[in-house]
Amino acid sequence: MEAGHVCKCREELDAQLDQELARHGGNKNALIELLYWVQENYGYVPIEAQLKIAESLDVPLTTISGIITFYHFFSLKPKGKYEISLCRGTACYVRGATDVLDRFQKELGIKPHDTTDDNLISLEVVRCLGACGLAPVITVNKEPRPRMKADMVPGIVKEIKGWG
Ligand code: FES
Repeated sequence: MEAGHVCKCREELDAQLDQELARHGGNKNALIELLYWVQENYGYVPIEAQLKIAESLDVPLTTISGIITFYHFFSLKPKGKYEISLCRGTACYVRGATDVLDRFQKELGIKPHDTTDDNLISLEVVRCLGACGLAPVITVNKEPRPRMKADMVPGIVKEIKGWG
């Protein structure tokens, strides 16, 4: 980040987090709730927020990072501008979702629940998207792409990169 460039929103969020922490008064039972709050408001769980929560609730940082890693809802990096969600529910799985996922991982160079280094594309794996008749299905920023095949993946990645 350039010197002197301070994100106002981030400062406001940090202040709100302090209020949330004060509201819970060090109650360890609030840990997950606080992590949800951070994920929802920051869009990910920055290390600075983890440290604040660890200190305020007096829980080890390793406990917090363990929870973040375990629950896919949480992410350690900001989400990309575009999010690809790939369904691995039963209908999609039996119709080849794994091949599609493998190809996305190869094309993007990331694993599920991760974001490309340019912050453009996040890859998520979800359960049923509720469109089993279209299996295997993905969504790109919530727009469904039905009957996916692995060889359709490079075209979709190229298309998204073209959006910039
Ligand atoms: S199993 Fe994939 S949409 Fe239902």
